[in-house]
This record gives sequence, structure tokens and C-alpha cells, in this order.
Amino acid sequence: MNIILIGPPGAGKGTQAKRIVAERGMVQLSTGDMLRDAKASGTEMGLRVAEIMARGDLVTDEIVIGLISEKLEAVPSAGVIFDGFPRTLAQADALDALLASRGEKIDHVVEIRVDDDALVARITGRFSCASCGEVFHDTARPPEREGVCDACGGTEFLRRADDSESALRTRLMSYYKQTSPLLGFYHATGRLRFVDGMGEMDDVAQAISKIFES
Ligand code: AP5
Repeated sequence: MNIILIGPPGAGKGTQAKRIVAERGMVQLSTGDMLRDAKASGTEMGLRVAEIMARGDLVTDEIVIGLISEKLEAVPSAGVIFDGFPRTLAQADALDALLASRGEKIDHVVEIRVDDDALVARITGRFSCASCGEVFHDTARPPEREGVCDACGGTEFLRRADDSESALRTRLMSYYKQTSPLLGFYHATGRLRFVDGMGEMDDVAQAISKIFES
């Protein structure tokens, strides 16, 4: 089974993708993570996209399709969670073509619905472990021991450069202008499901599990 998690910035795509990986052994492909890795390793492409990401704009289709196509080659068979990809109709077409060339398809597109006010609170409260990348939140998911990562024991934490209020406004606008038209496309092709992302993380995970079982 291949699935897409779609939703605005802060909806909980990454949080839920990691749970599905842990529970079902699927592979998470996050274009946001790939682009941040490229930036951190200082590649020419990483440096080129850093400014675009900090502003909250979308990186070009050519770059992200290239990244996904390269990563997909290393994934042996169906069982992928696409997190943050596709974000444009061109990316959606490219993904269908890439999967078709492997004899695969997208089984479910899960839209995580969250109110804009809650998104602001989630994004401005998010931080992650500098060592292992585990994601926390000031109030919704603080580390069990203050200042210590639950996953690896690391004591250094980071906040993302694009988690400022001004970049978030641009990210939200990109979502509504460029990505939300995909919902119509996936609805029309019978693949769209949605979950209420306003609930507790466990409740959202359960709602997604029900879609898997359907
Ligand atoms: P990307 O990294 O994909 O960012 P995003 O889509 O804006 O999504 P986020 O990672 O911010 O949020 P999320 O939905 O994963 O939420 P999370 O689980 O962390 O992309 C970053 C940038 O890269 C883009 O702006 C663009 O520039 C570029 N890019 C990436 N992909 C691209 C593409 N395909 N095309 C072009 N450009 C691309 O949760 C957020 C917080 O809320 C956390 O602190 C979490 O603990 C908390 N939380 C989660 N669930 C709940 C809950 N149910 N209740 C309370 N708190 C919760």
C-alpha cells in the first residue's frame, strides 16, 4: 500500500507518518526532510533552496520530483508514505507516472484537516532534537524529562528557520493556492479520505488506521 498524507503546515503529517512507520514498517518519504538534509550537507542544490524554504515558498517541481524519483529507486516495493509530496498538480502527475512505471499506485490520500488558528500554535510551539530529529511541542508534546530528548537522550534542540509567523503566512498561502487543488484531483479519482486533525495525536492515528483497514 502507498499513501499520501496531505494537509497544511503543522497539520501533523510528519508526526503521523513516523507512527505509521513504527507500527506498520512502511517507509516515510518526506520532501521537506530531504531538502533540509541537502541544505545541512551544504550541497549546491541545498544552498539554492535554503532561501526559498526560509521564506516559506515552494521549491521547484523539477528539484522535488528529482529527489523523490531518486529515493523511490532505493525503496524495494510498495509501502511508502509520501509526506509533503506531491504539493502541485505537476508533482501529482509525476508521482502517478513514477509509480505506474513500477506497477504500483497510490491507494489512499489522507487529508489531515486542522483549523488555521491551531496550525499557528502548533508551528510556533514546535522544536526538535538536534541529534535525532525527534519532534516535540512546547505544550502538546514536551519531552518527558525537561531538556532531554525522549528518543535519544540528546540535550540540544532546534527550531526550524521557516517556523516564524511571517514564513508560516507564506506557507499557508502556498498550501491554499498550489496544494489544495490536489484535493479535488484526488477526490475525482476516488482516492481521497480525510481525518479530523484537531484531536489528540492518538485519536488522529486511530482514524488513519481505520482508513488502512477499510
Ligand atoms: P515540510 O517540511 O513538508 O513542511 P510542511 O508541509 O509545512 O509541514 P510541517 O513539517 O511544518 O508540518 P507537519 O504537518 O509535518 O506537522 P508536524 O507533524 O511536524 O516542507 C518545508 C518546506 O520545504 C516547504 O515550505 C517548501 O519550501 C519545501 N518543500 C517541501 N516539500 C515540497 C514539495 N513537495 N514541493 C515544493 N516545495 C517543498 O506537527 C507540527 C507540530 O504540532 C509538532 O510540534 C507536533 O508535535 C504537533 N502536533 C502534531 N499533531 C498534533 C495534534 N494532533 N495535537 C497537538 N499537537 C500536534
